[in-house]
Amino acid sequence: MELCRGPTAFAWTNSISSTALQVPRNLFAGGSKRITVWCVNGDIDSAPSPKESKMIVSVTGATGFVGKRLVQRLHADRHQIRVLTRSRSKAQSIFPVKEFPGIVIAEEPEWRNCIEGSTAVANLAGTPISTRWSPEIKKDIKQSRIRVTSKVVELINNSQDDARPKVLISATAVGYYGTSETRVFDEQSPSGNDYLAEVCREWEAAALKVNDDVRLALIRIGVVLGKDGGALAKMIPIFMMFAGGPLGSGKQWFSWIHLDDLVDMIYEALSNPSYKGVINGTAPNPVRLGEMCEQLGSVLGRPSWLPVPEIALKAVLGDGAAVVLDGQKVVPTKAKELGFPFKYRYVKDALKAILS
Ligand SMILES: NC(=O)c1ccc[n+]([C@@H]2O[C@H](COP(=O)([O-])OP(=O)(O)OC[C@H]3O[C@@H](n4cnc5c(N)ncnc54)[C@H](OP(=O)(O)O)[C@@H]3O)[C@@H](O)[C@H]2O)c1
Repeated sequence: MELCRGPTAFAWTNSISSTALQVPRNLFAGGSKRITVWCVNGDIDSAPSPKESKMIVSVTGATGFVGKRLVQRLHADRHQIRVLTRSRSKAQSIFPVKEFPGIVIAEEPEWRNCIEGSTAVANLAGTPISTRWSPEIKKDIKQSRIRVTSKVVELINNSQDDARPKVLISATAVGYYGTSETRVFDEQSPSGNDYLAEVCREWEAAALKVNDDVRLALIRIGVVLGKDGGALAKMIPIFMMFAGGPLGSGKQWFSWIHLDDLVDMIYEALSNPSYKGVINGTAPNPVRLGEMCEQLGSVLGRPSWLPVPEIALKAVLGDGAAVVLDGQKVVPTKAKELGFPFKYRYVKDALKAILS
């Protein structure tokens, strides 16, 4: 075994072990002095290039709809993951050690040790909004996001300089812009004046307190379409029950993104220094709700003629149905400038891929 210098870190060439390599480890040498070494297989020429470097990513909300998929992706590429959760047992059941060897699961008192020494943090936590919004729940929807984000930012800012994560990717939502049937919103557009806009502004403001030397990307996420969660999973039974017709006037805008594209965008943002500031996490072709319903009806094989009563959707999405029923047309100008390769540009293709 010999220590040698790699392109971005020290490379630790281990000639004995041949599996589970390429995992960065923080070693403490001489008391508190921290160095990062990479376990690599082979000689110095096989050390990772900066682009291929393995990351150590702390993830809040990792047990959720988006977080789960992000962790799967990072794990498949052998990055080291630290799941920051409120419940170890829940996280352990979602990420069993057999399938996710090496993953670290930490409850809040241990978050400091996880964030310090991570190369990046993805912040996705927050109380679900698809519920009935009592005054207490509305408070929790806002406070949970601000509280977790503030905590993450405080831990990043208070990390020792040589162990501070270099990147924070923090979720927010297209609700930032408020709702409109006529306007088009890009990253430069001002915020709206409804409750969800206020939540997003304060949520983003908490993230913006991160130190200047940390690259921050705020992803304003649209309605995420995926198989095993989110609004779509709840909408499908309603569409099966009725005949997949329009909801309300059908003119409301529906700014969506396929789960795989969102996860790819977060993944890219973790490692690509060009991804900074506000980035709309929406597909290039938002649709009016009428078209979304028509496409959904067609993919599900339901004729699209019987209007789906709003009340049915509210029964499953609660007041959170507002994100579907009162939408906004949001375009991903920044992602396009960055050349982000959307896999799903049209809602029909996204729905087909999800429901086939
Ligand atoms: N899905 C969408 O369509 C969509 C659209 C726009 C924005 N977003 C935002 O993107 C992020 C991820 O979305 P998602 O759909 O994956 O969310 P999700 O499935 O509801 O998961 C969010 C995670 O947040 C944590 N959490 C829940 N309640 C919390 C509380 N009171 N305090 C602290 N943490 C709490 C939970 O993790 P633990 O139990 O492990 O702590 C949960 O797994 C969220 O912030 C969401 O607002 C999502």
